[in-house]
Amino acid sequence: RELADKNDLTLGASITADAFRTYPDDPAVAQTLTREFNAVTTGNALKMGPLRPERYTYNFEDADAIVNLGVKNDLLVRGHALVWHNQTPGWFYPWEYTDDQLREFLRDHIHTVAGRYRGKVDVWDVVNEAVADDGTMRETAWYDAMGEEYIDLAFQWANEVAPEADLFYNDYGIDEINEKADGVYALLERLLDRGVPIDGVGLQMHAFRAQEYVTPEALGENIRRFKDLGLDVHVTEMDVAYDRENVPEDHLEHQAQYYRDILEACLDNGCDTLVTWGVHDTASWLRNYDQTITDDPLLFDEDFDPKPAYFAIKDLL
Ligand code: XIL
Repeated sequence: RELADKNDLTLGASITADAFRTYPDDPAVAQTLTREFNAVTTGNALKMGPLRPERYTYNFEDADAIVNLGVKNDLLVRGHALVWHNQTPGWFYPWEYTDDQLREFLRDHIHTVAGRYRGKVDVWDVVNEAVADDGTMRETAWYDAMGEEYIDLAFQWANEVAPEADLFYNDYGIDEINEKADGVYALLERLLDRGVPIDGVGLQMHAFRAQEYVTPEALGENIRRFKDLGLDVHVTEMDVAYDRENVPEDHLEHQAQYYRDILEACLDNGCDTLVTWGVHDTASWLRNYDQTITDDPLLFDEDFDPKPAYFAIKDLL
């Protein structure tokens, strides 16, 4: 954390409410987070599904706990995510709404959530994963109802109630220049042309098969073109895994080098933020998500001991 501060690097990790609920007597997550990082992302807590168990009830308990931990410990707080097509509540059937009702619904949601955390959440992932893998707009309920304008509106509504926050578009698979990243680039260019209040783009950087994933050069090139649009670029959800059929002999060393190279490319090209998707391996979403890849993708191991990747980052700073 100290080295990150010295290097003007925002080094963060996401945490989930498990840190307070499943292990209430084990403060290791919070301790490691606040000792080693200067930023926190709100894991699942602010996604519409977990946040809104019933139609008219918000459950802010988990999100408040994470946000307050961040504020109390002087961490930069990243809210994730105001608009997403995934992890919506079970009661939410978009086809039961007219287009206008859906628009009202989304405005109300953003005003309620972003407004509550005004002055506490420093950066918002306003829209998450709105572009399909082929670079076209993803067909979601929001898109069906409003067309691309839902993105403009989401940023405007967030800006209305949280004018001091930095507002980001966030996506996966856009870490290097490819069809999808081109689609995102074109979208962001249109938003900027229309005067939408967007500050930056988040590259999730889930490196599931790290040997075949983005190189530092390719990342650098991609960061530069987004920067040239006038946007900030953050790495927002990094984890580094390997195909179980093809794990390098010392994969923790490979992983260390990978983290280091990505951070170096990031810093060299004017990206000042790197967030890992979890503090320690036990909490990684990859433990449930994909059994064909390794499940120790983070900077701290199951015992909260720092891994080679931690020391590689420390070395670079
Ligand atoms: C993941 C969470 O880590 C899991 O716990 C959950 O079951 C599914 O979502 N991109 C994102 C994150 O933007 O919100 C996702 O988080 C991982 C991929």
